[in-house]
Amino acid sequence: MDFKALANKYNTPLYVYDLDYMSAQYEKLKSAFKAHPSILAYAVKANSNLSVIKHFADLGSGADCVSIGEVRRAILAGVPPYKILFSGVGKNDDEIKEAIQTDILYINVESEAELNRIEAIAKELNVKCRISIRVNPNIDPKTHPYISTGLHANKFGVDISTAKRMYIKSKNSDSLDPVGIHFHIGSQLTELKPIYEASEIVADMLRSLQAIDIELRFFDIGGGLGVKYDDETTIDPYDYAQAILSTLKGLNLTIICEPGRFLTANAGYFLTKVLYEKQNGEKRFVIVDGAMNDILRPSLYNAYHKLEAVTQNDGEKFKADVVGPVCESGDFIAKEIELPILQHNDLIVVHSAGAYGFGMGSNYNTRARSAEVAIENGNDRLIRKRESFDDLIALEKEFLD
Ligand code: LLP
Repeated sequence: MDFKALANKYNTPLYVYDLDYMSAQYEKLKSAFKAHPSILAYAVKANSNLSVIKHFADLGSGADCVSIGEVRRAILAGVPPYKILFSGVGKNDDEIKEAIQTDILYINVESEAELNRIEAIAKELNVKCRISIRVNPNIDPKTHPYISTGLHANKFGVDISTAKRMYIKSKNSDSLDPVGIHFHIGSQLTELKPIYEASEIVADMLRSLQAIDIELRFFDIGGGLGVKYDDETTIDPYDYAQAILSTLKGLNLTIICEPGRFLTANAGYFLTKVLYEKQNGEKRFVIVDGAMNDILRPSLYNAYHKLEAVTQNDGEKFKADVVGPVCESGDFIAKEIELPILQHNDLIVVHSAGAYGFGMGSNYNTRARSAEVAIENGNDRLIRKRESFDDLIALEKEFLD
């Protein structure tokens, strides 16, 4: 990929996504489940650009959404409502109402209190709402604590006995239609065993529901498949599918999988230009035009992203921190990495930036968010304009006088 030409054409900071790579990842995962009915519901939060969602919709993907805003994005991008799921621990009444009216596939329910709200809203609307219950199997997914979700210590889902009560309530309700069961134990998972164990627990639960005449149609295994940022060993999609399917022997269900990072992370690059080099005593800093408001993962999780310097200087390398212009010591993209001495306007390419990159961005320090560009069949095109100062103040300006 000609990063230099892209940076010259679109300026920096810039996100670039390889849509062909996304397609290849989609097909890899989809074909791993081919022996079984399945829907891949792309986790929109990973990269919610409309053109990215549309790209997956065109491949046949559904959408896993965690706000009504994401549901609206999915609809706008062409995902059929019957392939849209709505998850998340705190949906408000308006969101629940709109999800029901949009006739999405189902709402993933995360608490008894939420089930009661959904029932009341569905009753008001005089419809039966399709629901699935998110079970928290209390399994340690062995990932970063901020992205672990399947332990009782995490806020997500309900324990098995609560879930059972909720299914029985739903079955007996005129306003609820229990169609699925859901678990998601965490993100950036690199070990298969916890996924297998969680799937086994949830499949057992499913069997016990069958025994009391509650027949579900969807087995929603969440997302979470990890990717290589560095030298991690990752899970092969085929092994993943086999592990899940082995827990479902004798059960006839559609598998729903909600991948986000697996589909987009390594399709994305964040391009940022060097502003200056600076030395504070012994410490070397490379100051770039991208910052934590553009790419938050390093600051928030101390996450590693591979950096590549595009420079004429192929000389000796020295340790440096790569930092942005934001007024926070936590504003860094990489720490203590080896880089040659860089010149003003040399380019730094941040790899694996296609998931949880742009979407976790903000306007902190009144910084405009970057533009986004897609590459498909060797052609590049803009899929989000760079924000302008006027965009940033649009909702405030009228209150000045
Ligand atoms: N399904 C549910 C219910 C989820 O909570 C998530 C992610 C996914 C699917 C998609 O997971 P994935 O396949 O992308 O691992 N900002 C963090 C990641 C947060 C993940 C939140 N939930 C990061 O940058 O690592």
